[in-house]
Amino acid sequence: MIIKDFRKILHGGDYNPDQWIHVPGTVDRDFELMDEAHCNTFSVAIFSWSQLEVEPDHFEFGWLDDVFERCAKSGKKLFLATPSASKPAWLAERWPDSRRADRAGHRDIQGSRQNSCFSSPGFRERVRIVDRKLAERYAKHPALGGWHISNEYHGECGCDLCRSRFHDFLRKRYGTLEKLNQAYWSAFWGHRFTDWRQVEPFDSSMDGAALDWWRFCTEVIVDFFRMEIDAVREFSDAPVTTNLMGLFPTLDYWKFAPLCDFISDDCYPTWYAGEAEREGASVSFRHDMHYSMRNKPFLVMESCPGIPNMMPYTKLRRPGEFEREMLLALGHGADGTMYFQWRKGRNNCEKFHGAVVGHDGSDRTMVFRRVASYGEKLERLSGLVDAVREPVAAVIYDWESNWALRESHFAGGNEIKKWDETIQNHYRALWNSNIDLAVIDSEQDFSRYKLLVLPMLFLFKPGVVERLRRFVEAGGTVVGTYFTGYVDECNNCQAGGNPGGEAGRDLFGVWSEDFDGLEPAARQSLVWNGKRYPVMDYAEILHPEGSAVEAVYGEDFYAGTPAVTFRKLGQGRAVYIGARTGMDFLNDFYGALIKKIGIDPVLPGVPDSVRAARRFAVDGGSYYFLYNLSKEAQTVKLPRKMCAVWEDGADVDSVTLSSDGATVLFAAGEARG
Ligand code: GAL
Repeated sequence: MIIKDFRKILHGGDYNPDQWIHVPGTVDRDFELMDEAHCNTFSVAIFSWSQLEVEPDHFEFGWLDDVFERCAKSGKKLFLATPSASKPAWLAERWPDSRRADRAGHRDIQGSRQNSCFSSPGFRERVRIVDRKLAERYAKHPALGGWHISNEYHGECGCDLCRSRFHDFLRKRYGTLEKLNQAYWSAFWGHRFTDWRQVEPFDSSMDGAALDWWRFCTEVIVDFFRMEIDAVREFSDAPVTTNLMGLFPTLDYWKFAPLCDFISDDCYPTWYAGEAEREGASVSFRHDMHYSMRNKPFLVMESCPGIPNMMPYTKLRRPGEFEREMLLALGHGADGTMYFQWRKGRNNCEKFHGAVVGHDGSDRTMVFRRVASYGEKLERLSGLVDAVREPVAAVIYDWESNWALRESHFAGGNEIKKWDETIQNHYRALWNSNIDLAVIDSEQDFSRYKLLVLPMLFLFKPGVVERLRRFVEAGGTVVGTYFTGYVDECNNCQAGGNPGGEAGRDLFGVWSEDFDGLEPAARQSLVWNGKRYPVMDYAEILHPEGSAVEAVYGEDFYAGTPAVTFRKLGQGRAVYIGARTGMDFLNDFYGALIKKIGIDPVLPGVPDSVRAARRFAVDGGSYYFLYNLSKEAQTVKLPRKMCAVWEDGADVDSVTLSSDGATVLFAAGEARG
């Protein structure tokens, strides 16, 4: 259970009553509406530092005490935030080095949020003080459900202190300057370093230093996160989390995961017309990653029940879309879905961001009614709490690999590299086959899967290729693609050739001699099983070294040469896809591959536009989730009778999903595995 002894699917959101203290009756009304919407959990005080510590060491907890009391009385729980995301003006004034600096060293203004320097001694000390105060006061309160540490940590700082911490980080990582010079290939353009202080973190010509800068930024923030956890842990053993932002590009979230008692995420899909399949796969991808991070249920900490104001088109959710989005999370391993935010504020840059309760406080809005109806149905799903997933295939997502690729100057720039999109497209093809998936990093245990896919896993961390080999020899299937294993952990290219140096070449049984970057007017294709599929952006020139040729190129001077190879090794196989294709090839290819491996869909025979997910309940039986990605009603014939828990609880052998609809079914007596 995410919250101790609280067996409920969590439902609620960010609650900011401190913005409403001056409007009598609002908080009373909020608590009535919360019950009407069947909400049970809220996050509070996220941006409330200046309302709690009104001047240095002068604390006013009255409004927060009141919220705690009301929650305790009405059986609700609170995730209490540490307020470090937003520092008070007095703090920035008294400790100016708390303001973050840009790459040129200029300090940011006070204002906005999430813009403090994580190294500033004054800022760190004041955060520790306020965190300890909160923990001391509320640790034993019955309404405390857990700690929401800070908010969406991120950012870099170019102040002198951060630079000198970066140099300490390098000293620890490399030990001697000689090693650093080698690792950075620093004779290039004559950059040999004779002092650690000379290493410039923002020299974009040095691919190794740029990669280390992102590693360092993660380390600084993880260290800050740990400091905040330690502050609350002095008084409280309630679970801690910090809200992640999906695939946020500059933080390695795998390093945050071990510190979180449960993972939480802020997830804002758009559902624009025609994008349900792509968007559905994309949110499922992040949910699968968040489940995989701790191998247990996670929480969607923020989502938007109305219109997210930061998106290009603030599109209202069509009937069905809101509930389908929430059930996608639950089906992929969430034990709760919460909103940003409970009540819309009347001013400033989020005044139009969709909330459960609008500016007029009405419970008659479409958004409020949808939330209330979903909340009411959630009460039928308490058996889902702690239910587990059993993924059989995994896609690898490594931030370090993405950074190495991003900081490497080649292949048409980052708009063409498209690593996130590529990784998600491979996932999407597997998701389209309705199999149970994980998203892991390359340091996780591989042995529980039958299939591992490493799309553009550009950087091979030490030991990964050996572990992949053992996985294959023991019967696993590995799929690598163009730009797999091109560099080591310092962003140095492989001396033994691609993919992945000698060991990688031997694993895949292929040598990638070079790659052809394809401009938009270039025509290339690959031919597989007699069918021709378009190739775009990249095509590698491959030479089999012990592998069989699965597909060949269709055009140009390398027509007829290998495009996809397949090597049998031990009990398993290693497949290499040398070129970027569209979803047409990926869907066909993975559809055939999983049949060959013997991976079954979670539910057989669902219509093309329906996706399925499954979780195994702790007390036995399975929950099946069905999602209609189309605008037409879809009927799904079930392989056996199941209970329509999301509807009227009747036993059914088929269900009809309305346009964009979703549902949950329970199959009693099913065993795991
Ligand atoms: C999140 C953030 C919230 C709120 C929300 C608006 O990223 O954590 O505080 O700003 O976005 O969508």
